Amino acid sequence: MTLEAIRYRPGSLQILNQLLLPHETVYDEIRSVRDGYEAIKSMKVRGAPAIAIVGCLSLAVELRAGMGGNDLVCFIRDSLCHLTSARPTAVNMGRAARELMEFTENESMEKNTGVIGWIEEMLERDVNDNKKIGNYGAQHILSGVPRDSVTILTHCNTGSLATAGYGTALGVVRSLHALSRLKRLYCTETRPYNQGARLTAYESVAEGFPATLITDSMAALAMREKGITAVVVGADRVVANGDTANKVGTYQLAIAAKHHGVPFYVAAPSTSCDLSLESGRDIVIEERPAEELTSINGVPVAAPGIDVWNPAFDVTPHQLITGGIITELGVFLPSELQAALTGRLTAL
Ligand code: MRU
Repeated sequence: MTLEAIRYRPGSLQILNQLLLPHETVYDEIRSVRDGYEAIKSMKVRGAPAIAIVGCLSLAVELRAGMGGNDLVCFIRDSLCHLTSARPTAVNMGRAARELMEFTENESMEKNTGVIGWIEEMLERDVNDNKKIGNYGAQHILSGVPRDSVTILTHCNTGSLATAGYGTALGVVRSLHALSRLKRLYCTETRPYNQGARLTAYESVAEGFPATLITDSMAALAMREKGITAVVVGADRVVANGDTANKVGTYQLAIAAKHHGVPFYVAAPSTSCDLSLESGRDIVIEERPAEELTSINGVPVAAPGIDVWNPAFDVTPHQLITGGIITELGVFLPSELQAALTGRLTAL
């Protein structure tokens, strides 16, 4: 069974409301760009690739309903601009918006149909990219341990729920499991919003992965005591020098991995890469509401009145990405990424 975060048939979009998981399975109808923006902002749908796909599909739904009229280009531009502002750190939505605008402006006839087609193909492209990431990542990790099964530690949720399907870092885990080479997955709870405890644990149980939940504060200990073969995480934005923004807590995992000599991998499609930024210092980090830290499911867990700092992401410096960056083009060292993405270097 594979979980479906996004259900789309031409003109109709539903998303699995991830705020209600793991306790309730409810699909919400997305009828407009406004609905798409709200679902992304409130994190009913989250994960960099899924954010872009749902954002763009919400536009496709409106275009299929005939919105845009005579001022189609303007309508598409304003919609994409609005959707991109919902969550600033993940680059996928901004990147899709840029490519879609270029496509829209160059398209001479039947703009509406062309744009809708471009958007609807995103689902298939993402699943295909993820399967390649899974395969490349699994092979690369297994090449270091030719005969053994492996133990992977991951953070946040990067699976079917965060993508069009299969997943990125969790896609690598899925591929290892399919090869019967996954001994165990350790997934962090991922405070403050618990994507690991709520979503990765849920996916792992649903997919039958041998998996163990730990709190974020147990990760270094797990590396010392539990024979972690590799840490594999996703990315919201990988920039030109390989610095990577991902869910807050990723940075400290990379430091702990370095200390324990555990290879640290980032798994991300090229749609999560942003060569326009030189280094991680240039990445805008989204800050989320204090309540996401001071309460869990509406139940307060912190002393009332305390000040809160709640950045949703942190940046892992490229020097700590020791295993490599796993893309649909192959596995690359951070220093090789630019050449790989611009076609000057090929796989593995
Ligand atoms: O705040 P979230 O849940 O959207 O953060 C998600 C992550 O940080 C993921 O690791 C990243 O988007 C990659 S998802 C394939």
